[in-house]
Amino acid sequence: MTTLIAPSILAADFANLQRDIEMVNNSQADWFHIDIMDGVFVPNISFGMPVLKAISKHATKTIDVHLMIVDPDRYISTFADLGADILTVHYEACTHLHRTIQAIKAAGMKAGVALNPHTPIAVLEDVIADLDLVCIMSVNPGFGGQSFIENTYKKVTQLKHLIEFSNSNAQIEIDGGVTDQNANALAEAGADVLVAGSFVFKSEDPTATIANLKTL
Ligand code: DX5
Ligand code: ZN
Repeated sequence: MTTLIAPSILAADFANLQRDIEMVNNSQADWFHIDIMDGVFVPNISFGMPVLKAISKHATKTIDVHLMIVDPDRYISTFADLGADILTVHYEACTHLHRTIQAIKAAGMKAGVALNPHTPIAVLEDVIADLDLVCIMSVNPGFGGQSFIENTYKKVTQLKHLIEFSNSNAQIEIDGGVTDQNANALAEAGADVLVAGSFVFKSEDPTATIANLKTL
């Protein structure tokens, strides 16, 4: 399939980070998905700027940064300097979302917005034309390895309609619980990018798992 695959580094072996980054570089994966958590917006802390800096040094593919932090405006220029190509903020974390989107683009990055499982697609009606990416969370953000929420399919269809109706160029990304069991159906529903953490990194042969996701 032409769907892009974005392995989530959250599930990598942090003691062998360079090895896992090289694996992604040499695989059929399209993007690096980088989860930044602050322990406030979500009940977990992942890693921060020094680790992203180390990842950027070795990564040869698009760096897709998913911010699960409150008040992300504080760090937009920092993430641009650290090598983020796409910066995604949460709808639920932004009081002035339109301003935040413009600031991300002014800093030279592509702008994404992520929606929690309980947040309806319709809240994006007035910004969809400005967006490069919409990340539909198919689990509650904060942890890898959770089960996929089936209501996601309905949201992908709704978002696809909104994008077409608005002449938007936004890509549809799905994040959480992606496996070979749902990848095909998600692509058929309209997903452009599939994030996969545990399914890739906890498998016996991550390179082959990525290749398999690409052929579905
Ligand atoms: C969850 C993160 C996801 C996570 C996906 O809060 O945003 O990117 O790493 O992990 P899996 O694929 O294991 O559900
Ligand atoms: Zn993510």
